[in-house]
Amino acid sequence: MSIQNPVKRLFMTLTQGVYVVGVAEGDLRNAFTASSLMQTSMQPPMLALAVNPRNASYPLLVEGGIFCVTVLQNDQYGLADFFGNHSARDENKLSAVPWHAAPSGAPVLDEGLAYFDCRVMSKHPAGDHVVILAEVTGGDFLQKRARPLRYDELGDMDGSDALLPEHLDTRTPN
Ligand SMILES: Cc1cc2nc3c(=O)[nH]c(=O)nc-3n(C[C@H](O)[C@H](O)[C@H](O)COP(=O)(O)O)c2cc1C
Repeated sequence: MSIQNPVKRLFMTLTQGVYVVGVAEGDLRNAFTASSLMQTSMQPPMLALAVNPRNASYPLLVEGGIFCVTVLQNDQYGLADFFGNHSARDENKLSAVPWHAAPSGAPVLDEGLAYFDCRVMSKHPAGDHVVILAEVTGGDFLQKRARPLRYDELGDMDGSDALLPEHLDTRTPN
């Protein structure tokens, strides 16, 4: 699919990976695709994750206080699409794929490339998303010699072409 929105094309130059974030609270579990994830600290190792609070996963993530990031392999478009374009409001996504619980209890997809187990430290409003800062409490490779999937390889899978503004205010402040 060709991307029409120039602002979407601009944002696609930011190098991002594609992940499935598993959440758990009590007996409830879910997972959703995320690309807005970055490392923020080395000591302690920390990640920042931008989450749409309208995701069904959001209350589980905040109330459970933990999550697990499965890094997708470079051919796992189907998993990115499934976990990113279906909601737990309509189906039990985790019943469709093999997964296991990370030490935190949050789900990890067995077929991913690697995982990061995380503990929520704080949350910060950020426009239409909430940035979650988390300490990485564990993690490991799930496969050898695989490469990660990149967000810019997915075209408009997340529908952001229509969500981003088509123009940016580029005036230089006085
Ligand atoms: C490629 C891709 C990247 C996405 N990145 C994010 C993201 O970084 N943060 C987010 O909150 N949602 C992101 N989403 C959207 C959620 O995955 C989507 O809304 C999902 O249906 C939420 O599932 P849930 O309602 O079961 O929690 C992304 C979707 C796709 C397809």
